[in-house]
Parts: sequence; structure tokens; C-alpha cells
Amino acid sequence: MLDRSLIRQDMRRQRSNLSQQQQKVAAQAASTRLFQLPWFRQCLRLGIYHPCRGELPTDAIAAKARHRGKEIYYPVLKAGGQVGLRFANADQARWRNNRYGIPEPCGRLAASPRFLDLVIVPLVAFDRRGNRLGMGGGYYDRCFAYLNQRKVWRKPRLVGWAYAFQQVEEIEAFPWDVRLDAIVTEKAVFMCCL
Ligand SMILES: Nc1ncnc2c1ncn2[C@@H]1O[C@H](COP(=O)(O)OP(=O)(O)OP(=O)(O)O)[C@@H](O)[C@H]1O
Ligand SMILES: [Mg+2]
Repeated sequence: MLDRSLIRQDMRRQRSNLSQQQQKVAAQAASTRLFQLPWFRQCLRLGIYHPCRGELPTDAIAAKARHRGKEIYYPVLKAGGQVGLRFANADQARWRNNRYGIPEPCGRLAASPRFLDLVIVPLVAFDRRGNRLGMGGGYYDRCFAYLNQRKVWRKPRLVGWAYAFQQVEEIEAFPWDVRLDAIVTEKAVFMCCL
């Protein structure tokens, strides 16, 4: 099994070499697959992310969600330099850059991540069982840690959003890693929670 930091390095390099056109084409194809999923069609409160450094774009998801009248939330970092994520409503909100230079809405905070129905999760690499490598901060893992205690009632559903090349054979999961329920790429949908 490859070392986590080697996988991260390789995937981040590949991602940053993509042209804007390649990113857009992949996001359109992945969006078509996502929009057919009942989890997307039925969700009322959706969490998405603001892409940076070549991450698969999310603007088509936001546009479709807005059109369907869903509430859209983006991750915002906890104040005071703590490692923690919350989700803020993006409708009519002002935006500001966080400490990593990633834009965040200043809108109303979701009372809890459980309040969301579906969250589109960025990732650096994934395997087909739903194991995920993020950027290495542990932000998403901490935010959704409670899901590791749950077997039956899981909310929100976590859908990884990635390029097909980000798939690897197997990612070694640590006890704190939170698995994805599904992954959508431009080439396939992987259901991992069945
Ligand atoms: N629930 C948690 N409580 C405390 N520490 C945690 C928790 N989840 C992750 N961590 C810590 O965060 C660090 C980074 O974790 P990991 O390498 O899994 O990041 P990641 O999954 O890539 O990041 P992210 O969740 O932001 O996408 C690890 O040192 C881990 O111990
Ligand atoms: Mg992790």
C-alpha cells in the first residue's frame, strides 16, 4: 500500500496540471451523474465546497441546487485557529477569504452538520470502498466524526466529488477517518454504503 503522503503529492500534482477546460468538462459529466442520484434529487439542505487548486468544480451543482430551491451551505473554518468546520448558508451572503485563502460565506450557520441532508466532499484520493484522503488537516473527519458511531441513521450522506484519476486501489483507513457513502466522478458512481 502506498504511503498517504506520496499519494497526496502525486494526486495534487496531477490535479494542478489540469486546464480549466479539462476541469469544466469533467465537472459537467460528473454533475450529470450526481443529478440522477435520489440523494441529490431529494435533498433540501446541501453542503458543497468552493474548489481550489484544481479540485473538481462545483458551480454546476450550485446552479442546479439553486434552481431546484435547495438551501446551499459551504464549509467555514471555526474561529480562533481551531481545527474545525461548520457550514454556513450561502444565499445572499457576503463572502470573505479564510486563513487558507478559500472564500467562505458569512451567512447563517447550520446548527449542526446533522441539519444537512447531503454534503459534497472534496478529496485528494479515494478507493472504491469509500475510504478517502483529504488535504491532511482532519477538518472533515472531525466535523463528521459522529457518523463513525452510527450504523443505521446517517445524516448527512457524504458524497465524494472527484476526478476518475483520483481513485487508488486501496487507502489505509485510520480509526478517525470517516468513510464516504458514495463517490461521483466524470466516469462512474461508486455506492459504498450498501
Ligand atoms: N475526530 C478527530 N479527533 C481528533 N483528531 C482527529 C480527528 N479526525 C482526524 N484527526 C487528526 O487530524 C489529522 C489529519 O487526519 P487525516 O490525515 O485523516 O486528514 P484528512 O482526512 O486528509 O483531512 P480532512 O478530514 O480535512 O479532509 C490526523 O493527525 C488525525 O489524528
Ligand atoms: Mg482522514
